[in-house]
Amino acid sequence: MPASIVVTGGTGTLGRPVAQRLRDAGASVSVLSRHPRETAEGIRYTAGDLSTGEGIEAAVRGAEVIVHCAGSSKGDEQKTRTLVSAAKDARHIVLISVVGADRIPQVSAIDQAVFGYFGMKLATERVLEQSGLGWTTLRATQFHDLILMVTRALAKLPVIPAPAGSRFQPVDATEVADRMAELALGEPSGLVPDLAGPKIYTVAELVKSYLSAVGKRRPLVPVHIPGQAARALRTGANLAPDRAVGKRTWEEISGRPDLDGTQNVQIRSTSRVDVRQLPVDQVGGSARAPCGLTEHVR
Ligand SMILES: NC(=O)c1ccc[n+]([C@@H]2O[C@H](COP(=O)([O-])OP(=O)(O)OC[C@H]3O[C@@H](n4cnc5c(N)ncnc54)[C@H](OP(=O)(O)O)[C@@H]3O)[C@@H](O)[C@H]2O)c1
Repeated sequence: MPASIVVTGGTGTLGRPVAQRLRDAGASVSVLSRHPRETAEGIRYTAGDLSTGEGIEAAVRGAEVIVHCAGSSKGDEQKTRTLVSAAKDARHIVLISVVGADRIPQVSAIDQAVFGYFGMKLATERVLEQSGLGWTTLRATQFHDLILMVTRALAKLPVIPAPAGSRFQPVDATEVADRMAELALGEPSGLVPDLAGPKIYTVAELVKSYLSAVGKRRPLVPVHIPGQAARALRTGANLAPDRAVGKRTWEEISGRPDLDGTQNVQIRSTSRVDVRQLPVDQVGGSARAPCGLTEHVR
């Protein structure tokens, strides 16, 4: 059992349940945050900003293991550089990345403008690999929370643009947290097998099921996104059908109080694909993707 684990991003969607699981496993857990708070429920909070470097050395001093869940839509490569250069005592850093990080080309301006998140995550992976520290990287597909956030935002538009051919395989962040905690309690393992949700959906399916759950109707307009990154997404580069190990489905996020404040809303997909029933070549390939939905889908 590690004496000391720091969770960066431990106030976020993924990092919070990671910190809780590690605490429950008996580790001494400290969360790095730009907005520290009092120790609560056995988890300590330390102040630090990975963008400026302020507070980072003190926050990670003495940590044997660091679970790196901090991230945003920009600058993760630099944040990770700051982290690894401060992490002198760590024998193991566990990183969360995204399925398709290595399969979404970043060739043109449109590739980078719309899908630059993937390139950033790949560059972030490289920083850790070259750090000289023990490392483990897990790539996951988009979390349900993110898909909800995006579908909710899209549902506010009078007409909803739905990127043609893009599909997603959402996974529950709590299941990713289970795996991240397991990896943190183990030995450095390098790039481990992807973690993806149980089913694959088109953007239209995700949006329509959300609209139906909240009782809205909106026209959807298919849009074509040019560029090699968008093409990779259309071939399924953001998917991992052979790693559909998540159990919780998009439909099962019913009853979430954060779903427009509506309790017990049942998300029903209008048509869905159980990836376990599809041959890999129907959904596979190599791209993955963030968006197609918006540039913030990751
Ligand atoms: N969401 C997805 O669908 C998805 C899918 C695959 C991989 N990922 C990756 O998983 C990670 C976590 O995603 P999430 O959805 O849990 O994110 P989130 O809910 O937005 O949380 C982001 C976390 O990062 C921390 N953070 C951001 N900038 C920071 C900075 N400059 N210094 C220190 N901490 C900083 C925030 O902490 P404070 O605000 O407390 O400082 C917060 O705890 C990200 O690296 C993301 O790329 C996400």
